Amino acid sequence: LIFTQDELKKIAAYKAVEFVESGMVIGLGTGSTAKHAIDRIGELLHQGKLSNIIGIPTSKQTQHQAFCLGIPVSDIETHPVVDLAIDGADEVDPDMNLVKGRGGSLLREKMIESCCKKFVVIVDESKLVEYVGGSGLAMPVEIVPFCWKFTAKKLESLFGCVAKLRVVMNKLDDPYVTDNGNYIIDLYFKKDVGDLRVAGDAMLRVAGVVEHGMFIDMATTLIVAGEFGVTLRNK
Ligand code: A5P
Repeated sequence: LIFTQDELKKIAAYKAVEFVESGMVIGLGTGSTAKHAIDRIGELLHQGKLSNIIGIPTSKQTQHQAFCLGIPVSDIETHPVVDLAIDGADEVDPDMNLVKGRGGSLLREKMIESCCKKFVVIVDESKLVEYVGGSGLAMPVEIVPFCWKFTAKKLESLFGCVAKLRVVMNKLDDPYVTDNGNYIIDLYFKKDVGDLRVAGDAMLRVAGVVEHGMFIDMATTLIVAGEFGVTLRNK
């Protein structure tokens, strides 16, 4: 292989930053791919090639990164119109529907990325799937901590899936806590989730569920970096 996975993530991220123009309000994603895009925005600001950027961070982690790079930040209360958001994804299907949240920031990501004019998703080719939720990987759902086992069981019986509480890495007794003080349940489906909207709406009707990690019909541009180059697709 010519490129490592991280190099592919960086290639996709740099391509996305070509859409950033001075004066824009930019949704700043979370995760190892988005991190490269934010680094690049910081670099272009310092070189004077970009100016008057306002970043809207999708997590405390990204907020910290932006602060360290000197990127001015705001939120969607102060800046309700976001010109462009750039973020990674865990899975992308052929219709550009996504699964997000393996990094834990799905709620803030969804709040911010649903109010942007353009949402550029950046991935290496390993994230491409035929059906989201059908790969046997986790489908993250943010839930309130109160009686979380009750909520997890409801999700299991609703979908016939396996629901696992996300824990802090190497500390198996400590639940992972999101930036919003909630827990994450990872759902594992035997096959695909069926109609994404129907499944998503059913999840949201379970009391205790705050948000799910399916980002349906939200991405407007997809940038995929692979061994054979970068492809860009608009919806
Ligand atoms: C964060 O909650 C996630 O939605 C990430 O955006 C997603 O998991 C992609 O992360 P990587 O770029 O690290 O794979």
